[in-house]
Amino acid sequence: MEKEQLRELLNRMTLDEKLGQLTQLTGEHFAGKIDDEMVETGPAMEDLDLSEEQVGTVGSVLGSSSAKVINLIQEKYLERSRLKIPLLFMHDAIHGYRTIFPIPLGLSCSWDSEIVKKVAAYTATELRAAGIQVNFSPMTDLVRDSRWGRVMEAFGEDHILSGRLGKAMIDGYQKEVNGRIGEHGVAACLKHFAAYGAVHAGKDYASVDMSLREFFGYYARPYEIALEAKPRMVMSSFNSFNGEPVTASKYLLKEVLRDKFQFEGIVISDWGAVAEIKSAGVAENDKEAATEAFKAGVDIEMVSSNYLRHGADIVNASEELQTWLDAAVLRILTLKNNLGLFENPYVNEEEEAVLLRSEEAIAFAKQAAVESCVLLKNEKVLPINASVKNILILGPFAKTKELMGGWSCKGRFEETISLEEGIRTTFQAAKVNAYEKLEECPADLYEKADIILLTIGEPWYQSGEGHSSTNIELAAEQQELVREVKKSGKNFACIGFSGRPLALESVIEDIPALLWCWYLGNCAGTAVAELISGAATPSGKLTMSFPRVTGQTPLYYNEYRSGKPANDSSYSSRYQDCEIGPLYSFGHGLSYADIEYSNIQLSAATITEQRTVQLSMEITNNSEYDTKETVILYMDDPVSKNVRPVKEMLDYQRITLPPYTKKKVVFDIKAEDMKYINNQLEKVLEPGEINLYLNDGKTPIGKLIYVS
Ligand code: NOJ
Repeated sequence: MEKEQLRELLNRMTLDEKLGQLTQLTGEHFAGKIDDEMVETGPAMEDLDLSEEQVGTVGSVLGSSSAKVINLIQEKYLERSRLKIPLLFMHDAIHGYRTIFPIPLGLSCSWDSEIVKKVAAYTATELRAAGIQVNFSPMTDLVRDSRWGRVMEAFGEDHILSGRLGKAMIDGYQKEVNGRIGEHGVAACLKHFAAYGAVHAGKDYASVDMSLREFFGYYARPYEIALEAKPRMVMSSFNSFNGEPVTASKYLLKEVLRDKFQFEGIVISDWGAVAEIKSAGVAENDKEAATEAFKAGVDIEMVSSNYLRHGADIVNASEELQTWLDAAVLRILTLKNNLGLFENPYVNEEEEAVLLRSEEAIAFAKQAAVESCVLLKNEKVLPINASVKNILILGPFAKTKELMGGWSCKGRFEETISLEEGIRTTFQAAKVNAYEKLEECPADLYEKADIILLTIGEPWYQSGEGHSSTNIELAAEQQELVREVKKSGKNFACIGFSGRPLALESVIEDIPALLWCWYLGNCAGTAVAELISGAATPSGKLTMSFPRVTGQTPLYYNEYRSGKPANDSSYSSRYQDCEIGPLYSFGHGLSYADIEYSNIQLSAATITEQRTVQLSMEITNNSEYDTKETVILYMDDPVSKNVRPVKEMLDYQRITLPPYTKKKVVFDIKAEDMKYINNQLEKVLEPGEINLYLNDGKTPIGKLIYVS
């Protein structure tokens, strides 16, 4: 349809029909409960008190899946829709739809936008094949507190990395061609705007109170960067921000998102969040809650019905809101039109089977899994010698197929490769035994084992939405297991699975090698086996620091300087009962390869607004391992008007390094990238020295003088 036709359609709509477009319901409202097809991603809502007629005006559906079901819902709906405006179907496929890839926190450890983009592209193909046109992803909430269960859905503690990976994911979903969503593409919904990752004390749905300097300098940056890829939708967050529920915040949703960040797409509330304006105590009743959300500019209300029930009264009382309503409806009709729904509201049911779980997607899921793992420690245990005869796998993740991770959409355990299966396939000449508990393992098998792979971590269902924890240490029985194996003097390596960084201080001394695998999706077992055998080389680097103990959280590499920096003195910024710093910091990750940096040079000693400076270096792989290397460049600004972080990431690059090769890497350093947001909310850099560091962030590699 042309723009004009869309306008005409809008003009023919009644007020109720317009309000319907602004409402999203789950599938059972349209075609009754259809077993197994709905993925529940939120609490059941009490009776929404909607008439059949009202349901017949609704604009979009959440959580339904499979081409057959979606066609059925669409058909039934269109039969009763007066103007035959097709429904839009939305879903949460945050790391795959049916082919499951590593969780986003794992993917971020690859530091690789291309990988993230391809994961999103495969996911979009499967979603579209199943009849879904909008994906509630990516989530670029900045996360610093691993008590928060949702860190698994995020890209870690750095704002630049989170923003760039979010942008890559949007590109992968939308497959834009000439400003339109491409074939097999879906509309991306960037979430959760804003600062949801900073919920107080890591407790889900809690409030957020922060300075605007902190907000614009860090928490808002990942959304701002990701918005460059033009996601068609943004989801507002559950939390309140500086005293306002975000769903009712004109400041965040209008002044910041629309005016400052120039977002032109659709804003959707989170699940039931319009109604929650009332439970947050900021509205007296549902009507007032709907009014506040309207005024803030929330276009679609997700799975509650306040817009439909009270919208007419609200907009009839305000001309401004009538204009806004028309604009909101037009945004929704435009998206439906751009997705081609008016021409063909149905999906080809035969094609679905061909497009789900393609060989290519599965092969890529394995590659992404390999690149998401991080080798945290290795006292010459890994890789295992190819000639080992007896491998014993122990611990809670030895045999399980539950390795996909939370939010696994339509992924299936039976299509997931367990560690035991992966190890058996990779080490075909070895005898492989697997037991979840030490007591189950016969003594002679234990004795005979040349290597023990001891699995540790947290079950997948302990992270994700609504799964915050006060204790992120390893369960007592797992700590005991580590100690027992250590005491026996056997050669062993630990393999960790979790949806969040865990606090491992109590066991780390006893562990000679530790590969952290997060949750890796369908190909978990194969990917881990390849890394353990040396067929693949670990190349992931942490994007979220691992604390020593829970009490250190929130913990992140770019904390603000203190007047009393942490040192041996008790009058310094430290805890009395814990060593200084994280157990493993942001950026940490070992390799089997021997990688050497040389010839590190700056093209100039001073930097100005006009003059960029090149930092160049040579990186050599002195080993037989085919690997990838992420080079991380940090800066610190030792003297500034407002307090700045001890260290900040300026940029990073990822390169491939085949065996015995050398590559040159060049960073273009710009003054603009070194600036910070001051207390007046201006972006500034005062003249003076800037120190530069690489990778571990501890050894200075040079200085630049900024001249304004
Ligand atoms: C609530 C979650 O916060 C959000 O991330 C998700 O997209 C919606 N539910 C829909 O499932």
